[in-house]
Amino acid sequence: MTDSRILVDTLGRVHNNLRISVTDRCNIRCFYCMPNENVQFKPRVEILTFEEIVRFTRVAASLGVDKLRITGGEPLVRAELPNLIRELASVPGIRDIAMTTNGVLLADHVVALKEAGLQRLNISLDGLREETFERISRRQGLDRVLEGIFAAQRIGFEKIRLNAVAIRGITEEEIVPLGEFARQHELELRFIEFMPLDAENNWCDDQVLSGSEIREALEEAFCPLVAIERKDPSQPASDFRFADGIGVIGFINPVTQPFCNACNRLRITAEGKMRNCLFSIAEWDAREIMRGGGSDEQLVELLRDCIRAKKPGHGIDSPNFVRPDRAMYQIGG
Ligand code: 5AD
Ligand code: SF4
Repeated sequence: MTDSRILVDTLGRVHNNLRISVTDRCNIRCFYCMPNENVQFKPRVEILTFEEIVRFTRVAASLGVDKLRITGGEPLVRAELPNLIRELASVPGIRDIAMTTNGVLLADHVVALKEAGLQRLNISLDGLREETFERISRRQGLDRVLEGIFAAQRIGFEKIRLNAVAIRGITEEEIVPLGEFARQHELELRFIEFMPLDAENNWCDDQVLSGSEIREALEEAFCPLVAIERKDPSQPASDFRFADGIGVIGFINPVTQPFCNACNRLRITAEGKMRNCLFSIAEWDAREIMRGGGSDEQLVELLRDCIRAKKPGHGIDSPNFVRPDRAMYQIGG
């Protein structure tokens, strides 16, 4: 019999990992995620309040969710974010809170975030040249990202991860310098394959710079990479250690090596729509229940419905693949 206190789907995948988008706004405009101009942000009244986010999280935690990740847009453009983190950290059952940020505003907020109970940080860093940063994000700001990374290290964040989206024709020349940077500063570096979630619908598979190509480039520049045993079967990255003992590299290969079979993630968008996959076509409206005077029991049912409907995989490589209507900034990554 299935335990009614957990969120298990038809394939037996247990969902204990909730990704909460706190805003669809962002201070930069990465082409793989957002349009450059005329972005249609949700009006503020549509965005979940902190109270609503905490209520939803409490209900999810009562069903076994114990890991949270705060995402955006860019989470740090949401005012008073540390107050939300403090409240989430006190929700019974929550044992891990992480955040994914572009790093631009991080130096200003890192102390407050740590004090509020944020445990882990993933910082996006696709390259080390300002030119690459501007080409991707269509804004300036690499220096501030680097400042943010060092500030986080200085105040004692451990296991900081750098996320590098790899794009053929743009980031090949960044691979080795990023590897060097990560080795030098004891930062874990993860390369992510470019997924069809860009807002302008320009993705094509030729632009996917695969994890295996990147691995070859790194091994040639440094030394062999040795696989590290996967501690958590649901983690999307395959991790490797350099044979000389300096540095850890992860590969997130959603396109060339899908990892959907061990997925434990569910998502709620900034305006309160639940999704069971980055590539979901359907959504489940938690805000409607909360603003309509609905009960926690109704939220439990919604969570269960959402998870029950989860498909086996994203099917990017299938001829029948249908892109979701939302781009990355409207989902939260
Ligand atoms: N493909 C792969 N990764 C993406 N990200 C944003 N858009 C895409 C995409 N289309 C990454 C960001 C960030 C995280 C939220 O997801 O770089 O690290
Ligand atoms: Fe902003 Fe992150 Fe999207 Fe870049 S990927 S535009 S930093 S939300």
